[in-house]
Amino acid sequence: MQSFNQKMCRFFQTLWPAEEKPIVLGEGNTDHPPVMLIGEAPGEQESLQGRPFVGKAGKNLDGFLQVLELRREDIYISNVVKIRPTKVSEKGRVSNRPPNKEELALFTPYLLEEILLVQPKMVVTLGNVALKAICGPRAVIGDMHGKTIRVPVTHEKQTGEYPLFPLYHPASIIYNRSLQAVYDEDLAVLKTLL
Ligand code: URA
Repeated sequence: MQSFNQKMCRFFQTLWPAEEKPIVLGEGNTDHPPVMLIGEAPGEQESLQGRPFVGKAGKNLDGFLQVLELRREDIYISNVVKIRPTKVSEKGRVSNRPPNKEELALFTPYLLEEILLVQPKMVVTLGNVALKAICGPRAVIGDMHGKTIRVPVTHEKQTGEYPLFPLYHPASIIYNRSLQAVYDEDLAVLKTLL
């Protein structure tokens, strides 16, 4: 894992200097964890602290862990894109934006390699971006959430097959409150599977 992280940092920091765009690596249990949780990309707090799912997203993660009766260190936590995608307003205000096509194309092979290294018992994606990174552009969270599917994961000459359980991204619930009940139900199903 260490050499994978070093390789990834070396490559991405040729594109973005660390002080400009810190890389937020995956963290946690890298030895067949019960869950590998995959988000979209780091936000402001993640970029400042250099860790995935801290700040507000960390609060959502606490709720997730509580339902599943797991500790943060039991699972592996990562994002598809490992730098914070930002936009700057006319007034110079920096805010988050969804990862663009180039960023997704650049980071997705590393995510697939990461899954093959960690070998999780269950991959849990949050939202459409993470789901599409693994299943391809036709996958849609509205059709696939709350069910397990087996997905092939291939990187260079390595290949594996993993159970994937897609969840809505907790951030999307803020914009669509009716998803809260769906998310809670899906999480209850996931608990029965672990
Ligand atoms: N923080 C993360 O690390 N990932 C997300 O997808 C959202 C917030």
